[in-house]
Amino acid sequence: MKSKSSRFLVKGGKPLHGTVKLSGAKNSASKLLVATLLTDQPVHINNFPCTIIEMEVTRQICESLGTKFIKFSNNEAVLQTKKITNTSFSEDLGLINRIGILTVGALLKRTGEARIPKLGGDKIGARPIDFHLNALKQLGAEINEYEKFYELKAKALIGANITLPFPSVGATENLIMSSCLAEGTTYIHNAAVEPEIIDLILMLQKMGAIIDVLTDRRIVIRGVEKLKGTTHRVIPDRLEAASIAAAAIASKGEVVVKGARQIDMISFLNSIRLIGADYEILDDGIKFFYKQKMRPIIIETNVHPGFMTDWQPPFIILLTQAEGVSIIHETVYENRFGYVSELKKMGADIELYNTCLGGSVCRFANTNYYHSAVIKGPTALHHANITVPDIRAGFSYLVAALIAKGESIIDGAHYIDRGYEHITEKLSKLGVNISRI
Ligand code: EPU
Repeated sequence: MKSKSSRFLVKGGKPLHGTVKLSGAKNSASKLLVATLLTDQPVHINNFPCTIIEMEVTRQICESLGTKFIKFSNNEAVLQTKKITNTSFSEDLGLINRIGILTVGALLKRTGEARIPKLGGDKIGARPIDFHLNALKQLGAEINEYEKFYELKAKALIGANITLPFPSVGATENLIMSSCLAEGTTYIHNAAVEPEIIDLILMLQKMGAIIDVLTDRRIVIRGVEKLKGTTHRVIPDRLEAASIAAAAIASKGEVVVKGARQIDMISFLNSIRLIGADYEILDDGIKFFYKQKMRPIIIETNVHPGFMTDWQPPFIILLTQAEGVSIIHETVYENRFGYVSELKKMGADIELYNTCLGGSVCRFANTNYYHSAVIKGPTALHHANITVPDIRAGFSYLVAALIAKGESIIDGAHYIDRGYEHITEKLSKLGVNISRI
């Protein structure tokens, strides 16, 4: 499943100016689609980024399981799963992203079984699903692992007291969806509380679920008999917001990002101000702008409300332009700096270390993972031909290319299309000279 063309040509050197409207959040929308499998009634989802490849994959997964799509265009998804007709989907769909495992709650509740192909996704770390599987076992699922898939069975899921070893977004979402129709109450300790998870909870609550989010990373789900249909609007994409903000500031421009919400980006906004760039909160978005020579900073990525791991690849480009030595300590994924080697080709001065730099000690201390980056700036970036390894690194290359002198070719546009809707149109509107070749 590739995009229209797999390469971008970017002619760099112009500041970005103008206004851009965010799409619905990819990492919320795909989960909302899966959550509709929990009811036999119709669900209507607005602000849905239908043209992102990740959504198409999720649509095909749902369709394989029995969902009928009444509409899936113009930012609207209207769908109904009267009956689950299949308890599995093709291995190919499982390999494209990591959504498949999230269907187990609905499949187990509605049919008593699920066969989930082993998952793929971006190459940013091992990305196991042991937290999901251990938690599902605690809810009463029986799980067998085969070479290419997992087979799960459960006569009924029963509420349990579950502590996640790390606040995993996917495992938290899986547990919420699996336990909202379980018998009794489920407590998730050390849960992730990302805005995309809250969006899922809000839709499930409208569908009839009873879910509390407590202040100490505890989520409490009281099982109900049945969920009903609803209408819901996907939250704006804060990953797209941060990516465009980084592009605007790195190019010394000024961009209004319509739909960006301060509440979802507090730590990002603080980092923007700490490096000497700035922003203004508007009624319907945030204006990001370059102000003065930028300063270095130490950033440690973390789960929400910390500085998101997905923000670091575009942000690192800003740090190549700041005066002095910056550090990014990646604490969520063990292997998320693979993309740096291509940036070095463009002239960035970035060195990777397998130690925890930046202040705190993370779970990758005493491992051989190069999870800290030291960035020396400012360095002029020059054009290059580069190949994208994953979605966010892909956007980072776009930002690098649009501030570099000359023409860059970015291979692997389909990775970027997995997470960014109408990206060439949006960037062109802001003055970027970008085309697909
Ligand atoms: N982890 C385990 N075992 C598990 C689950 C997770 O060890 O069973 C580890 C992972 O290997 C990782 C950490 O826990 O080191 C966090 O993983 P998490 O489960 O939170 O990530 P995810 O649910 O697979 C989602 C987003 C990612 C985003 C992360 C963190 C989607 C589809 N993906 O992944 O988004 O980076 O949460 O916020 O929602 C992206 O959009 O580019 C992207 C990669």
